Amino acid sequence: MATINKNFTKLPGSYLFSTIAKKVNEFEKANPDANIIRLGIGDVTKPLAPSVISALHSAVDEMAHEETFKGYAPDLGYSFLREKIAVSDYKDRGCDISADEIFVSDGAKCDCSNIQEIFGIDNTIGVCDPVYPVYVDSNVMAGRTGLYNSDTMRFDKVIYMPCNADNGFVPEMPDKAPDLIYLCFPNNPTGAVITKEALQKWVDYAIKNNSVILYDSAYEAFISEENVPHSIYECDGARKCAIEFRSFSKTAGFTGLRLGYTVVPKSLVVEGVELHGLWARRHGTKYNGAPYIVQKAGEAVYSPEGQREIKENISYYMENAKIILTGLKEAGFESYGGVNAPYIWLKTPNNMTSWEFFDYLLEKANVVGTPGVGFGPEGENYYRLTAFGSRENTIKAIDRIKKL
Ligand code: MLT
Repeated sequence: MATINKNFTKLPGSYLFSTIAKKVNEFEKANPDANIIRLGIGDVTKPLAPSVISALHSAVDEMAHEETFKGYAPDLGYSFLREKIAVSDYKDRGCDISADEIFVSDGAKCDCSNIQEIFGIDNTIGVCDPVYPVYVDSNVMAGRTGLYNSDTMRFDKVIYMPCNADNGFVPEMPDKAPDLIYLCFPNNPTGAVITKEALQKWVDYAIKNNSVILYDSAYEAFISEENVPHSIYECDGARKCAIEFRSFSKTAGFTGLRLGYTVVPKSLVVEGVELHGLWARRHGTKYNGAPYIVQKAGEAVYSPEGQREIKENISYYMENAKIILTGLKEAGFESYGGVNAPYIWLKTPNNMTSWEFFDYLLEKANVVGTPGVGFGPEGENYYRLTAFGSRENTIKAIDRIKKL
């Protein structure tokens, strides 16, 4: 008799962004004339950069001829892309990461949910609260989190590290160190950043406690201020305790194209075993590599024109972030983020719950955001708006919110 993985039944509700999409679709059906503006899921709206498009076209042409056709990609990624990443994203920033420590994939979401497979089931996990739900959910599916308590909205074996206005949305180190520590900076959902000194303390803490930091820096391209680290490998010793995830989704508009990568340094050793080898084994067994044409598109991102073009798009989104932040402040909202990240984290007015505010904005302003509580209990009474909309919609949405 077949049985199911019962861990899946411990997951509360559906995936956050699926729940939101369902609610919005229902509202739209009931109100077909509503002009809904979606600033919920962090999905880009600007088309791919011209140099990316031209790389895609020529890669497609290569696939049409026997001499240049490509079958399976190397499972860890083509070296033309891994070399570019190693130089531009790491060596140029003074980080000691080499091309063979980079694993190309179809996006950071898959990698940061799959990475837990190479760790023992008894590892404790520490997550920020609020948190990108994928880190917790993937550990629930694996059976590492214990039971869900619907009163506290927490799993009993997960170590939650509250991030709130009092600590600047940067977590404090728990007295008992989690074995696996998930950190994401610039942060999704709060838009907060960590200073290099503070991140160095996390690295020192991880080394002292034999913990591994799983560092999600998918939003590093949006950093505009000095002294904000783009990579955890800017910190001394991080090669011994950290894995880093990066994505082309927000940086270069690849949400629909899919490309990302994970860095596992060879000097990261747990129980005498190099994690690099374990991840390579996992990758090679379960994954057949990101498509050639997409990796060629990724390579084009690192060309001088590619860099100029994606920076223009990033500035466009960050101008949206400024419009949102300024508009919300003028309307009297307590709001955070939006300076080094494409997310704006605002306190709901009059103590409304996050979902009450979601319904209120949807009904009264036809604007969709993401309820903060969907990211964890500390997110209650908060709401997230994304800067990835079009300029026109962003301005319209803020005007509507101000009018309320
Ligand atoms: C978000 O809105 O938090 C992101 O788009 C989710 C993701 O990147 O998977």
